[in-house]
Amino acid sequence: MDDKLHGRAAQSDAIRKRAQAEMKSIGIDDVLISVLVEAFYARVLLHAQLGPVFDAKLAGRWPDHMEKMKSFWSALAFRSGAYGGKPVQAHLGVANMTPELFPQWLELFAATVEEIVPTEEARAWFTATADRIARSLAISLFYNPALDDPALKQY
Ligand code: HEM
Repeated sequence: MDDKLHGRAAQSDAIRKRAQAEMKSIGIDDVLISVLVEAFYARVLLHAQLGPVFDAKLAGRWPDHMEKMKSFWSALAFRSGAYGGKPVQAHLGVANMTPELFPQWLELFAATVEEIVPTEEARAWFTATADRIARSLAISLFYNPALDDPALKQY
């Protein structure tokens, strides 16, 4: 039992070390994540469609949100386990959330990454990771199996 636990701890330690080395080699660190997150949400607030949806939910709580988003990206990059939130549940409580907002979020994120992130590999990592999570969030929030049922399709 003890051996098993030690084995698992050693394995996650190895995964973390590998992630840290990989991120370091492409130029991603916590300072870059912090700058990117600050720049992105500053733009979100100025965005005609995204801004009001975010601010309606986060007015008075922005500093908390920024800290959460930094630990979210840091946990993804370094496999640190630093973020323990529940993104699907958090978005279920967002008023006026629509599928059309996702491409706009992703476009704004990619434009911010393009300006802020210095290496091609790091840019690719941020945009691919955001695409993947956005897709899975959108499926969790909006997927309706009935729309896939051929018997229900309108011709
Ligand atoms: C359609 C686009 C999106 C909108 C309008 C949106 C809006 C929001 C809002 C308003 C919150 C704050 C919830 C609260 O604290 O009450 C939030 C939290 C969060 N969002 Fe999004 N979001 C979007 C897309 C994304 C995407 C693509 C990602 C990931 C790449 C993401 C990751 C997160 C995370 C990690 C949190 C914190 C959840 C928690 O632990 O409380 N969001 N989002």
